Amino acid sequence: MTDGWEDFESPAKRGRARGDRSRRAPARDAAGSRRGPEDPSERAGRTVQPGTADEDGQFDVTLRPRSLDEYIGQQQVKENLAVFIEAARRRREPLDHVLLYGPPGLGKTTLAHIIAREQGSTLKPTSGPLIEKAGDLAALLTNLEEGDSLFIDEIHRMSPQLEEILYSAMEDFRLDIIIGQGPSARSIRIEIPRFTLIGASTRIGLLTAPLRDRFGIVHHLGFYPESDLSLIVHRSARLLGIEVTGTAGAEIARRSRGTPRVANRLLRRVRDFAEVMGGGRVTDALASDSLERLNVDKFGLDETDRRILLLIIEKFDGGPVGINTISAALGEERDTIEEIYEPYLLQIGFLDRTPRGRKVTRRACSHLGRDLPLEPGRQGTIFGNDGGASEPEG
Ligand code: ADE
Repeated sequence: MTDGWEDFESPAKRGRARGDRSRRAPARDAAGSRRGPEDPSERAGRTVQPGTADEDGQFDVTLRPRSLDEYIGQQQVKENLAVFIEAARRRREPLDHVLLYGPPGLGKTTLAHIIAREQGSTLKPTSGPLIEKAGDLAALLTNLEEGDSLFIDEIHRMSPQLEEILYSAMEDFRLDIIIGQGPSARSIRIEIPRFTLIGASTRIGLLTAPLRDRFGIVHHLGFYPESDLSLIVHRSARLLGIEVTGTAGAEIARRSRGTPRVANRLLRRVRDFAEVMGGGRVTDALASDSLERLNVDKFGLDETDRRILLLIIEKFDGGPVGINTISAALGEERDTIEEIYEPYLLQIGFLDRTPRGRKVTRRACSHLGRDLPLEPGRQGTIFGNDGGASEPEG
């Protein structure tokens, strides 16, 4: 018996061999339901959702900035990282472990590649759901070379048992492995090279506190302002050889829900319209018309965003309504709603998160041409707020 340390094969290799991202085995969920069965960002493959379809993956790689100087936006994160990388370089030490968190599509993976590159180290990428067993993690760690950067995307999807192995490796650069069971069990210690762990997460709240605390550098990536997205659209257009007028670029940026991956995806779709219908040039009129055809509205909302908001307005009197109820009524995974849709709706002030559930705002109603419902979920009674459909939020 080897207590889960069997199969010392690299999980990155195994993932590639399977070839199908959507069929990846789920992380073992010893902690219950906190880890979803798969990455919701991969399920939401619509034009304005930031999940990574494979097509996007290749596109992103082509357009990915390769240095902090080339990277547009997230100014404070960039400035701090530049200092920490330079300080580590002067001390001839690997950079402290880095945790990047925030909604999907904002550049966590891109920054991980840049951090490794700026340190002159090799990035070894993997992802939480690929690391199923202690042996998988051990294989990754023991295959590292001095100064390497290990990138674990969706790190919140690792099981708590594996997190425990990881944080002792982060702290002491060694692995304590228990081989066997019962009286014959014995522990062996493996030294591992000093490395930098770069973790990325869309759900930092799902990481255990001890793991979170082992990261010396923690940065949140927030949605990009339109001005930065506009620069990103024009940079991508230049790299792809697409002619985009100034205001057309701004229009694409405005409808990209603060997310570079969405901006690049919309640019690619608009280019299709331009090539087939517009002589190859992305003009203002062509951009607006294409974005309308893609059902992406002025705020960058798509069909599912509108379904969420209209459900709350029409069926639940504007809320509050619990996330599980919304999920069941729409037939969308709770994780998908929480990780993909909600952050942006909250950011633009269309949705409100209360202890009793989600509420739409006046702003959302006015955008959708509806009145803000008053009864019964919103109007206080002498017995308090009715809100029959609401549920305590977990
Ligand atoms: N492409 C995607 N994200 C980018 C960014 N932040 N800067 C430059 N190009 C990008």
